[in-house]
Amino acid sequence: MTQALSKHRHISFTAHYTGYIWYQMGISHQALATKKGKTLAALVHPLESWAEKYVGGSMRSTLKQRHTLLDDQLKSLIEQHPQLQVLEIASGLSPRGWWFRQHYPEITYRELDLPDMAQTKQAALQQIEADAPDMLSVDLFTQEFKQAFDLFDSSLPLVVISEGLINYFDKPLLAQLIQSIAQYGRTFPQLHYLTDLYPEPVKNKLAHIIWSSSKLLKWMSRSAFSFHFTTPNDVEQFFKENGFHEVKVTQPADSHHLTPSSSTEHLGDLVWTIHASNKKQR
Ligand SMILES: C[S@@+](CC[C@H](N)C(=O)[O-])C[C@H]1O[C@@H](n2cnc3c(N)ncnc32)[C@H](O)[C@@H]1O
Repeated sequence: MTQALSKHRHISFTAHYTGYIWYQMGISHQALATKKGKTLAALVHPLESWAEKYVGGSMRSTLKQRHTLLDDQLKSLIEQHPQLQVLEIASGLSPRGWWFRQHYPEITYRELDLPDMAQTKQAALQQIEADAPDMLSVDLFTQEFKQAFDLFDSSLPLVVISEGLINYFDKPLLAQLIQSIAQYGRTFPQLHYLTDLYPEPVKNKLAHIIWSSSKLLKWMSRSAFSFHFTTPNDVEQFFKENGFHEVKVTQPADSHHLTPSSSTEHLGDLVWTIHASNKKQR
């Protein structure tokens, strides 16, 4: 039987790039670093080095930042809910699933991606993880996404995680994704959604360069890549309109990044994280 796929699939070269950068930065495993990622990293290296020297930050520096922020928030959620179950969507070549399964062997942690990436990741995990659970080969915009939730125990809390994903979709499609997560997760006593997000780079002195790079990325990934939000309030409102009751935005400029940002202002960071959640209605 052929697998159901939507037209909302962007090509995954960025996942190869990110996977390689994480390996280079010492926060991943060699098995998750591909040749394609290495080639892309070599190609972009001069531009990234220039940005780090003259701007004080680059795309690759945000990759580590967003990854670490999400890891910290996930650790904190597991401490609060030791029976937490995790579904990482569009996980690409992220080491997170592998790392958390090693360090928290008691939790259920499943990863999902499109068929090609799911196959590549599965092969990589098999080299480094004895009992790696099967990757879920699912398109987020098909009915199969709903079925992925049925694989979890609905008497225990669930967290859905995405990283480097939501800017690739236009706003109506992002609304559809958030609504699906809220709806399919409503049978769980608690549903959490952790994600990163690139806000409008309005406060950055390189806003123009970042904008031009984002247009290039949009074209190269054949996606709708764009910046959807300018303030934490915009994000909060959007997630609330699309099915979540609690929404906390974290801006790294707030030094206590495990507590949500109290600021309603854009503090100038290139990447934020969002923790949206719902409790089951009785
Ligand atoms: C930019 S990458 C991010 C991957 C990884 N989370 C990271 O941070 O590097 C986006 C991922 O989304 C996946 N993807 C794109 N469209 C998708 C869809 N419709 N359903 C499921 N996954 C999708 C791609 O295969 C790719 O692995």
